[in-house]
Amino acid sequence: MCGIFGYSGNKNSNDLVFNGLKRLEYRGYDSWGIAVLDGNKIYQYKDIGLVKQNPKLKKLPKSNVGIGHTRWATHGGVTKTNAHPHISTNGDFTLVQNGMVENFDALKRELRKDGYKFESQTDTEVIVKIVERELKKNISFKKALMTAFKRLEGRNTVAVLDAKSNKIYAIKNGSPLVVGIAKDGIYLASDSLSFSPHTKKIIVLDDYDMVEIDGKDYVVSNIKDGKKKKPEIRTLKYQYEDIDKGKYPHFMLKEIVEQQRTILYATDYNEKELEPLVKQIRKSRKVYLLGAGTAGFAAGQIAFFLRTIAKVDAMEIKSYEFKSYLPVISSKDLIIAISQSGETADTIEPLEVFKKEGCKIASIVNMYGTTISRMSDYEYYTNAGPEICVASTKVFTAQSAWGYLLSMTLAGKYKTARSKLKKLTKSLDEMFSKKSFNYIKNKICKTLVDKEHFFILGKGENASIAYEGALKIKEISYKHVEGFSAGELKHGVIALIEKGTPVIGIIPSGEHMDDSKDLISGMEQVKARGALTIGIGASEYSGLEIFDYYISTPQINTLGSIANVIPFQLISYFLSVLLGNNIDKPRNLAKSVTVK
Ligand code: M6R
Repeated sequence: MCGIFGYSGNKNSNDLVFNGLKRLEYRGYDSWGIAVLDGNKIYQYKDIGLVKQNPKLKKLPKSNVGIGHTRWATHGGVTKTNAHPHISTNGDFTLVQNGMVENFDALKRELRKDGYKFESQTDTEVIVKIVERELKKNISFKKALMTAFKRLEGRNTVAVLDAKSNKIYAIKNGSPLVVGIAKDGIYLASDSLSFSPHTKKIIVLDDYDMVEIDGKDYVVSNIKDGKKKKPEIRTLKYQYEDIDKGKYPHFMLKEIVEQQRTILYATDYNEKELEPLVKQIRKSRKVYLLGAGTAGFAAGQIAFFLRTIAKVDAMEIKSYEFKSYLPVISSKDLIIAISQSGETADTIEPLEVFKKEGCKIASIVNMYGTTISRMSDYEYYTNAGPEICVASTKVFTAQSAWGYLLSMTLAGKYKTARSKLKKLTKSLDEMFSKKSFNYIKNKICKTLVDKEHFFILGKGENASIAYEGALKIKEISYKHVEGFSAGELKHGVIALIEKGTPVIGIIPSGEHMDDSKDLISGMEQVKARGALTIGIGASEYSGLEIFDYYISTPQINTLGSIANVIPFQLISYFLSVLLGNNIDKPRNLAKSVTVK
């Protein structure tokens, strides 16, 4: 996690770095810091909490070169001392890092033996001290930094401001780093979104690439062989000028409402564009869908669509549980990685291993030019635009809708899929109406606000929706919510139900499968034990007496499952508003989990 930003050019770096950090805040919001150069002197400002203006920050000399960092604490608590940048003892250079130095303990002991003292508890300061020790050998700064970097174990990316040369150096391994090439100068950041208003031209650095930025010039080289590279300059499809909340009080609500459009953006692929992947699926022995957190639940949903619509042997693997699949995986298998950020360490690790095993890799990612997309033989994008709220909403439905389109295409029903998707998005109108928001906030959430444990039941097409619904409510409201397959109820879960326990049942339309009957009977059983019952799903059941509350959702065949997740997002949102929680930046979480 953590966000890195840098700028060198002819504009004011103080403002550019500050605004860049605000856009990177989703990666970590414990603390932050900025360093700028004035002549040959480094000036820096650090603070804890959110990136915000401060008179002391304004007093930094105006500069054309600077770096900054937003922190998600790994080593050491949230303090100004632990915040980045970490400056060298003589003030000649200052460094920011994204990642985790896994051999931090051993390195720190070694440095202590050599007489080095530490101010912070971070692994970052260890890197600074190794560079200092190297510099004593009278070698160039660049060489010292490269040597120090090679000592680090784990996924680490650093950016350094060197006062003597007036340059920024950055090296990438594992954690992402993108260079932006603009008319006014060179940008450097953990993602391209943070400098999106300034340029669409980017270079995505490979592992062990070093970029040396001098004014408006840059050089990329590989630190392993020391050779200069001619990196590919990509042009981004979209440029996001303003990332703001618009008329909404929070990004989360804005992103929930955007789903009417983003489901269509994610499925804006013609048959020709899907064909290479369709062919690969047809010749694969088995398809594994890989993801973590919300992306892991989308993987489950896509696997469900592939099995039931396209009759493809597909199953999901939680990224962090990949190891037990290694004995059964074969080069004839296809892996489809699901990720919003494209930088999740837990998902990148198995992809590296599966690639070595000879598996083909496909991915559906929201951010452009990311590690996961670049590792893929088949690269697809959800195109849902920036998702700023830490809790994923529009990207989950975008991923699931893309999986539906893919499955329908495999089944020879591409055109039907496109028209059903259009129908779905049109019919979401009602869910985003004032009336629906009022009902969810003032009736349902006001009842839930004092409850501590909730349970969600789904089945078949709604099993992954129950898991995702539970995660969504947990993340922002901090309530204890568990999602279960309704089949589990009688096998243990029902023991948890007592008078007043909220149970939310996801009820599919009775047209297909018997799942709706099972759900209704499950809800009857919990009602008989005094549960507070909420139904989400097909309107035909909204009048049943067993429900205390009911939210009807459009049921367009199996696409009803995608619509069913939206009430959970709204419950999560309004409940957390009532609780006064930090909606867009919930405690302890970061948007992009780039460390293991
Ligand atoms: O960027 P990714 O989609 O790979 O991230 C995976 C998870 O970390 C992510 O979905 C997480 O669970 C979200 N906070 C859920 O809202």
